[in-house]
Amino acid sequence: MNHWKFPVGTKLWKEFTRGTTRVETRFITKLLADDAAPGAWFYASFEWNSTQTDTTLASPGAGVPDANGTQHDIPSRANCRRCHEGVPGRVLGFQAISLDYAAPTGNLDLADTIGMNLLSAPPTAPSAGPYFPFPVAATTVDTAAFGYLHANCGGCHNPESPGFGHTPLDLRLDVTKLGTVQAVPAYATTVDINGSVGGLLGKIVDTQITDDSVMLIRMNAPAFPPKMPEIGTEIVDPDGQLTLRAWIDSL
Ligand code: HEC
Ligand code: HEC
Repeated sequence: MNHWKFPVGTKLWKEFTRGTTRVETRFITKLLADDAAPGAWFYASFEWNSTQTDTTLASPGAGVPDANGTQHDIPSRANCRRCHEGVPGRVLGFQAISLDYAAPTGNLDLADTIGMNLLSAPPTAPSAGPYFPFPVAATTVDTAAFGYLHANCGGCHNPESPGFGHTPLDLRLDVTKLGTVQAVPAYATTVDINGSVGGLLGKIVDTQITDDSVMLIRMNAPAFPPKMPEIGTEIVDPDGQLTLRAWIDSL
């Protein structure tokens, strides 16, 4: 349930809109059974034209800065891999923990994937009530922070990622570690734990002085040590900052 393995032929898309302007549609497809084999997943990105009627394949080498007159950059194919190949299954969003909610009508959720018999080993859940097999035993302040870190950072910062050896930081939710706040890896590997890289000394999450948390400093650092996430961002998300500061203040 932490890492779904998709069948050969799987196709996934993701669309980006700025205001009302459709900017980019990303596409990945699985070509080989072994996810770790070179070329097992194919990545492509399509840029929308200004009249919003058609797309063209974006340069896989360079991407497209400021696509369609917006501040949004289309990444290079090498950067697709840097984010997506930090998890064994290569898919970063379509997963059990993120689908474990009651989706609005017309959207897919975990219960639907089970109902449609899409899972070879479906999770078991409480017999009564809605089908939520993976509740997090935490306050809404904790869960908001864990969710933010999982989606924005967990793809690179998890035990299966190539960088975990030098940076043992785990910001990805693990369905077997949800029983207490302290068991959640995003807590266990950050709270009053010393940072180990980047020349920045200090606690990754500093419960005494929130602003001294290496996590927050790295998200706001302009250049060195590299800003986190290290690629794909130009503006620090103000809502994300509020979410993380509220969590650290509460500890
Ligand atoms: C900065 C990191 C980053 C880069 C670079 C990146 N992605 Fe993603 N991608 C994500 C994350 C995180 C998700 C899941 C959360 C979401 O959808 O917002 C995702 C989701 C997707 C999805 C939906 C399927 C899924 O994984 O759940 C597609 C398709 C996709 N990306 C394609 C691409 C392609 C193609 C490129 C390169 C042109 C690319 N991505 C570059 C981080 C990245
Ligand atoms: C595209 C991959 C990628 C993403 C996404 C990413 N990181 Fe990182 N992060 C790295 C790498 C690689 C390092 C180690 C090299 C360095 O220090 O720059 C690192 C280092 C760090 C460190 C230093 C840890 C230490 O022991 O000192 C922190 C803190 C950190 N990241 C936080 C975050 C946060 C918070 C997010 C999400 C908002 C995030 N990262 C997203 C790749 C990533």
